[in-house]
Amino acid sequence: MSDLRSAQWYSGNDRNAYIHRAWMRRGLPGHAFDGRPQIAIANTASDLTPCNSHLDEVAESVKQGVWEAGGVPLNLPVVSLGETQLRPTAMLWRNMAAMATEEMLRGNPVDGVVLLGGCDKTIPALLMAAASVDLPAVVVPGGPMLSGTFRGVPLGCGTDVWRLSEEVRAGELSERDFLESESCMIRSRGHCNTMGTASTMGLLAEALGTTLPGTAGLPAPDSRLLARAHETGGLAVEMVREGRRPSDLFSAGSFHNAIVALAALGGSTNAVVHLLAIAGRLGVPLTLDDFDRIGAEVPLLVDLQPAGRFLMEDFHRAGGLHAVLRQVQDLLDPAALTVTGRPLVDHLGGHPGIWDPEVIRTREAPLQAAAGIAVLRGNLAPDGAIIKPAAASPHLMRHRGRAVVFDSIEDLHARLDDPDLDVDADSVLVLRGCGPKGYPGMPEVSNMPLPEKLLKQGVRDMVRVCDGRMSGTAYGTVVLHVAPEAAAGGPLDRVRTGDPIVLDVENRRIDVDIPQEELDRREPSKALLDGVARPHRGWERLYVDTVMGADTGADLDFLVGSSGDQVARESH
Ligand code: FES
Repeated sequence: MSDLRSAQWYSGNDRNAYIHRAWMRRGLPGHAFDGRPQIAIANTASDLTPCNSHLDEVAESVKQGVWEAGGVPLNLPVVSLGETQLRPTAMLWRNMAAMATEEMLRGNPVDGVVLLGGCDKTIPALLMAAASVDLPAVVVPGGPMLSGTFRGVPLGCGTDVWRLSEEVRAGELSERDFLESESCMIRSRGHCNTMGTASTMGLLAEALGTTLPGTAGLPAPDSRLLARAHETGGLAVEMVREGRRPSDLFSAGSFHNAIVALAALGGSTNAVVHLLAIAGRLGVPLTLDDFDRIGAEVPLLVDLQPAGRFLMEDFHRAGGLHAVLRQVQDLLDPAALTVTGRPLVDHLGGHPGIWDPEVIRTREAPLQAAAGIAVLRGNLAPDGAIIKPAAASPHLMRHRGRAVVFDSIEDLHARLDDPDLDVDADSVLVLRGCGPKGYPGMPEVSNMPLPEKLLKQGVRDMVRVCDGRMSGTAYGTVVLHVAPEAAAGGPLDRVRTGDPIVLDVENRRIDVDIPQEELDRREPSKALLDGVARPHRGWERLYVDTVMGADTGADLDFLVGSSGDQVARESH
């Protein structure tokens, strides 16, 4: 009997093997069951995940590569999460998608898997699943869309929605022009084309070592993506034959490399919760402080929206991820492996240089000398909070202002534009009840809009503090992922409008400047407690009861770690 996992289903002449083979004979030749690696293609293509709708075509290329290498490709549609369509927030189901994919991989006769993702949560969920089932696994990132333009100016997908809608609120853009831009934004298939979460996680999947090197960042319509998908199919067969599993390949060094890449790229803050969650599945001891420690010496080299000027098509044209990694090669872990079985740094050697130094800077001329995500602590965030200095205003990095507190998103929407709201440009907007448990799902609301009356005065950024997340396509001086969250008893639940809030990024502090005894004495806001989610049944109930804090990746407590690939019992 073959030592492949799938042989436990297919080999032998008994009734069980008969049933397993017979129901799969829908045109498959007999030799499909003669000990060939069975490769699942975990496919998040869905019409309701528009960023991933082209992945069926990518899957066809993977299939050809699997057949060519002597394996059997098997399409496995898995839970798909469309960032723009799902309410209340796609993040509510990242862990569900990971759990469902893990279980389908474990329960089925497969030896390895190719993971097809793109839109924000899909690659993180697939990697969490692959880590927990620990089958040979390789990612094909679906790639970003091409750059759209509006009246001759490139439109950043996502980022320019925030900008244009603020211009309408400020009275600088007509509603008609705003609506005209809508059909200009999405030029092609693929995910958002800024350095948002999807671009970031596709690129970090490669920095982690989970893709065929040179694949991440290829635009979705680029024919080279299909060629890479074909090669990836062959690689998956090779990985099964050589027994390359996630637990063998990925280490603390892999996450070190991903954090270096995150800083150099100026990537999304969402990468923090996703990398923490993936590390948790692998048993790699990654902490929030590792992001600050490792990222602190990394320069920002990529001038992409939301913080910069260019888009992913420009990034690819300028040399892409390998051009960036070559600039910071001395900061990378030289031993961290990839799915090829060789270290990441081995794959950078022959790559040519930077083709457009406006888009990708050299080490000698960075956009910022130190670009890592800063981890803040203080009496407002005992377990930590984060800020992305690359997306913040330098003049607000050290700031003191009066809190204007909102107890929920609904409260924010109801009062933000009230002309009588007591707020000025120095105020600090505080939004709570938006953490993993509170909303639930930790929505991307931390970059709350500015009060209309301040926009009309020309104010374009303010310090904002929130226990939720921020869209990777957003920007601003936003302190986010505050932990513990207000709904879990974090001190944010006792802040009151008028309290002085002090932000000091250089010293990594976020505090409310009132005596600690007074903060301890206060009762949590009743409006906050009345507003937090208390679901009675279903996934939301399971989620709220078991989700952990943002500081550890917002996974469910019982999903941390791996269960391996073995099925406990046979049924037939
Ligand atoms: Fe899918 Fe932005 S909405 S990547």
